[in-house]
Amino acid sequence: MSCDSSEKLSLPEAQEGFLNIVRKLNNSDNLKQFLDWIQWNWLNDCNLKDTETSEEILDAIASDLRSSLPPEAILPSETIRPPAFGKNSDCTQEHTVHVDEFLYDNATVDALCDEGKLARNYCLQCGSFSTRPLTFISHSLSREKLLLIFKSVLPPLDNKIVLDIGSRLGAALFGAYVYSKAAKIVGIEINSDFCNIQNKVIKKYNFQDRIEIIEGNIAHRPDVILSADVIIMNNVFEFFMEPEQQTSMWRFLRQTIKSGTLLVTIPSLEETFSSLQTGIILSEWVQELPSYNPDAAGITLSADEMLEVKQYQIM
Ligand SMILES: C[S@@+](CC[C@H](N)C(=O)[O-])C[C@H]1O[C@@H](n2cnc3c(N)ncnc32)[C@H](O)[C@@H]1O
Repeated sequence: MSCDSSEKLSLPEAQEGFLNIVRKLNNSDNLKQFLDWIQWNWLNDCNLKDTETSEEILDAIASDLRSSLPPEAILPSETIRPPAFGKNSDCTQEHTVHVDEFLYDNATVDALCDEGKLARNYCLQCGSFSTRPLTFISHSLSREKLLLIFKSVLPPLDNKIVLDIGSRLGAALFGAYVYSKAAKIVGIEINSDFCNIQNKVIKKYNFQDRIEIIEGNIAHRPDVILSADVIIMNNVFEFFMEPEQQTSMWRFLRQTIKSGTLLVTIPSLEETFSSLQTGIILSEWVQELPSYNPDAAGITLSADEMLEVKQYQIM
């Protein structure tokens, strides 16, 4: 087939050209990724069948996103700043693997490690057996944590407005959509490439009836904060700005979030504030709440992972 892009093809010629490409793909993994890529980029609307479970819908979204993003899901348009202080200050560039947990669940990461496609350890002394585990970092919520947040931690959200600050790939928004009856689910994200990705998913899965994406800096949208009944914050600032900017963001939130709002944070506010000089006295701002339904079915997280998710009510 000629490469002249102005040449028009008949349908049989296009079909033959397509089959030629498919036949030349060197293995079934590449073929699957190629077909996923076509599905994601060219076949838009997806009519979810009533029989599809929430987990199957989230799996399908993650599979779509995997076909067009690298495993770390970090885009050229963003700068990740490894923190200099606090629990994550060991996340140096050489010793950290960024793997997006919404796209790759634990089982998939284990399989990639077993196949040698992802390393678990780094060598302390080249050529020796002296190794140390790499640090794995995700900038999205895992599907397991979404189940925990919306089925165990939070109360039923019927008629409520949920806001995810820094919505990135939209994991928390899609979790809220499939696991709750929230009336409106809003994501605000500063990076326009991530807004485009979220909007593509929303269109494909027909989530427009309840999900809205706002492109912008949360610091400029007190109106969005004031309209929310529930706010989700998954480590929004730590890897994305300097400590001084993080401090002013938290002071702005302290002044703006209205009394009665439920705030879900990962990690705890206590841990976040331990390496920042915010001057905020937590006991005067929030009250920690226990999980609404601690015995919810299907939670597979370890006790340590569950402890990372905290729920507070603004006083
Ligand atoms: C750790 S990710 C959280 C992703 C998502 N909420 C989740 O849980 O899967 C934090 C996101 O916040 C965004 N972000 C950082 N500062 C922001 C700001 N001031 N306003 C809006 N988004 C912001 C970043 O671009 C990044 O995509």
